[in-house]
Amino acid sequence: MAELSMDDLMFKPGLMKGERILITGGGTGLGKVMAEACLMLGAEVFICGRRGGVLEETAKELMDAHGGKVAPIACDIRVPEAITEMMDRIWAEGGALTGLVNNAAGNFISRTQDLSPRGFDAIANIVFRGSFFVTLDAGKRWIAEGRKASVVSILTTWIWNGGPYTVPSAMSKSAIATMSQSLAVEWGSYGIRFNNILPGPFPTEGMSARLNPNQSRDTGGAYRDMSGNPMGRVGEMRELANLAVYLLHPLSAYVNGQSIAIDGASWQAGGGNFSSLRAWTDEQWAAARDAIQATNAKDRAQRTV
Ligand code: HXC
Ligand code: NAP
Repeated sequence: MAELSMDDLMFKPGLMKGERILITGGGTGLGKVMAEACLMLGAEVFICGRRGGVLEETAKELMDAHGGKVAPIACDIRVPEAITEMMDRIWAEGGALTGLVNNAAGNFISRTQDLSPRGFDAIANIVFRGSFFVTLDAGKRWIAEGRKASVVSILTTWIWNGGPYTVPSAMSKSAIATMSQSLAVEWGSYGIRFNNILPGPFPTEGMSARLNPNQSRDTGGAYRDMSGNPMGRVGEMRELANLAVYLLHPLSAYVNGQSIAIDGASWQAGGGNFSSLRAWTDEQWAAARDAIQATNAKDRAQRTV
């Protein structure tokens, strides 16, 4: 279902007219709501992911609700050739992107000693390598054409204090934070800028199934006890969407190389990571793993690339 109305957005209609934005993982969750906000404000939006059917459904749903153009592109960002094909198509369908949101990710909670090399790669290949490959492909085109652009990467506050029980994700997100800081300087003179959004808990199906298995999605799963959060609640999708639009728009052009947490000051208050899972028993870990792997298998069956 479409999530937003104009009352949820702090910007004037048409703000994003002329912008062409690619949101990786834009078929679901936070990527979808950022796509919706950009669309409602007049941008042309491209969303990619591995499940073609999910992307098509999202594009239709958003266009039915708001008009405009959302183009779904089945693309696995672990595959550099597939990224180039996607970018060729986007550039051919009306020219350069003006913005990129590195949002696609994989994650699951696991004791680190239970990880296999394949388990590590399953996450690092998407977040660490995939986000870089997408950025590199778009960046080469922008530089060659003398275009300005905004790149926003969706990371986590774990880049500041670590991510117990989500180590491959925390390591990979930290690497992308370093990429953003580095390229903010290296490519700043081209007008290509890099900022990171670090969301706290925003309940989404993808996140809840892998990080809070066997728990209620509405309340943020393992985050259901929000008493440690100074605001006492999880994030609202519209709050995240407004921040993303701000960073993507050319009028925020002097904001470069920044990481902005949107978590109600959760990480200052208590870390905002999964350190509380130290109390879990072997049985709880086994049950979590079974539930996560059942979700992984269901999603895998829907992949078209
Ligand atoms: C230990 C696990 C595991 C688990 C999978 N593996 N789940 N190991 N504990 N719970 C291992 C498998 O055993 C296997 O290794 C390897 O990982 C690959 O598993 P596959 O299922 O074949 O992987 P694949 O189909 O490629 O799926 C990738 C995925 C999956 C990352 C595992 O979860 C996925 O596609 N996720 C996309 C969506 C997603 O994760 N969204 C959540 C983002 S939320 P072996 O050696 O056994 O073969 C997020 C929030 C952060 O990031 C911040 C919150 C505050
Ligand atoms: P989600 O709905 O599971 O989103 C992840 C998206 O990434 C999916 O649409 C998935 O689509 C796509 N994806 C995964 N691997 C891909 C690949 N190889 N190629 C292309 N697309 C791929 O979860 P979410 O909660 O919205 O998370 C979105 C982002 O926010 C992630 O970066 C996450 O780390 C970050 N984040 C979320 C929270 C939260 O509380 N929700 C908090 C902090 C940070 P396919 O499976 O179809 O490929």
